[in-house]
Amino acid sequence: MSYGFAIRTCESRIPDANGPHAMAPWKSSPGKRPLALAALAFAVLWPADGLPAGSVHPGPMSRAEAFARAEALTALGRKMFFDPSLSASGRQACSSCHDPGHAFGPASAAPVEMGGPGLDRPGLRAVPSLRYLQAAPAFTEHFYDSEDEGDESVDNGPTGGLTWDGRADRGRDQARIPLLSPFEMANKDEAAVVASLAKASYADAFRKAFGDDVFDHPGDAFDAAVEALGTFEQSSADFYPYSSRYDAFLAGKAQLTARELHGRALFEDEAKGNCASCHLSEPSNNGEPPQFTDYGLIAVVAPRNAAIPANADPAYVDLGLCGPLRTDFKGRADYCGLFKTPTLRNVALRKSFFHNGAFHTLRDAVAFYASRDSDPGRWYPTKANGMIDKYDDLPKAYWKNLNQDPPFGRKPGDKPALTDAEIDDIVAFLQTLTDADQSP
Ligand code: HEC
Ligand code: HEC
Repeated sequence: MSYGFAIRTCESRIPDANGPHAMAPWKSSPGKRPLALAALAFAVLWPADGLPAGSVHPGPMSRAEAFARAEALTALGRKMFFDPSLSASGRQACSSCHDPGHAFGPASAAPVEMGGPGLDRPGLRAVPSLRYLQAAPAFTEHFYDSEDEGDESVDNGPTGGLTWDGRADRGRDQARIPLLSPFEMANKDEAAVVASLAKASYADAFRKAFGDDVFDHPGDAFDAAVEALGTFEQSSADFYPYSSRYDAFLAGKAQLTARELHGRALFEDEAKGNCASCHLSEPSNNGEPPQFTDYGLIAVVAPRNAAIPANADPAYVDLGLCGPLRTDFKGRADYCGLFKTPTLRNVALRKSFFHNGAFHTLRDAVAFYASRDSDPGRWYPTKANGMIDKYDDLPKAYWKNLNQDPPFGRKPGDKPALTDAEIDDIVAFLQTLTDADQSP
């Protein structure tokens, strides 16, 4: 690597996201959360029939008030998340793309989903799962890892944020994007979203939480709406249940098969899969279950996907961190081709893999790691002159950004990093990461 930050190799300790629901979620089961306590205090402070007259920008809150507000906002956010009337088409909700039956990822196998007023405008990227984002740190160019074996001076480079290029820091910032994107929910402006909200069946609950006159101030009402969506995304039962077989195994309550255990060993072995160097697989020092991502932005460079309509234009290249969807690092050549490491929890539910949905089986996605560099002809197309069009979704000027850590970094003709049987075992291990409420 030619740039100035170190290759990421060690486990991260990710700071908790803000919001009361993000506090030590792994320490109590959903039924035993401190919310019960909050509700008690809440009953003392306020009449039992609901929240006090709310506000978009409440002043300082006690812990109990904060919990009560989070509860109210979660309930509202949930309603909004499933409400197609918040789109220009009237037919698309957040849940249309982020299906709760697929870990809030896409139900379909299409690499990108359709949106817009007529639901005929294709998106540009694969829809990620929204599970296990609760602890994602805000984006930073320089991530120092406090659990990095005692060495906090190692700069892990660009890390964190939401979306594939980390361009939103929190759920509420992110939620603006699909509500207003012309190829997603396509509202023409914030006021259009607010007008729909004012007509929704839950408009009264919205007033109760944010103030009777909230709809008279569309800017405030929009801020309130995205805050509710962001708060809903912090609800543990929906978004981070930690109910996979692997979680039960880590808690000593389930066994893995010999094959799954072998897959896990390969996943963690630095000389084999080395997957866990980015997709963290062990509980952190304080016992927090692994998130299967360190949130780092990395150039893996899956093959260009001709099934994405925008890719019909050879001049269009999705370069992730350096643009074009993200605009603040335009011209930063060292950032081109970098995309955020996704969690692999629930990955077996997906039907398209990587930011461009280039692969359609989990096995292919894993096999690609094993032989991207040793057998590029298997993955990339052949040009008219017979040459392999290697790394064809990243212009050559940026190839120095390609990650070359194991399992990558082999020479053409070398043995692949993993045998076919080893790939199968890693896939078997990844299938243990599916949450109990999801049926594969
Ligand atoms: C038309 C499909 C579609 C709809 C509708 C949609 N999303 Fe998304 N969502 C996506 C895609 C595609 C991405 C990745 C975008 C990117 O990387 O630029 C994404 C990313 C996200 C992320 C970041 C995930 C991550 O891994 O960082 C969140 C959070 C999110 N969406 C929430 C929402 C919410 C809330 C709504 C409703 C207000 C919504 N989405 C509506 C397609 C959709
Ligand atoms: C150097 C960091 C790094 C290592 C090592 C790594 N990954 Fe990844 N992984 C990523 C990044 C970054 C992405 C997203 C890249 C993109 O979409 O362009 C990704 C995406 C994936 C996906 C697609 C997930 C989805 O939601 O579409 C799978 C599956 C995956 N990795 C499995 C593995 C396995 C198995 C290994 C080990 C053989 C591994 N990864 C090693 C960083 C890494």
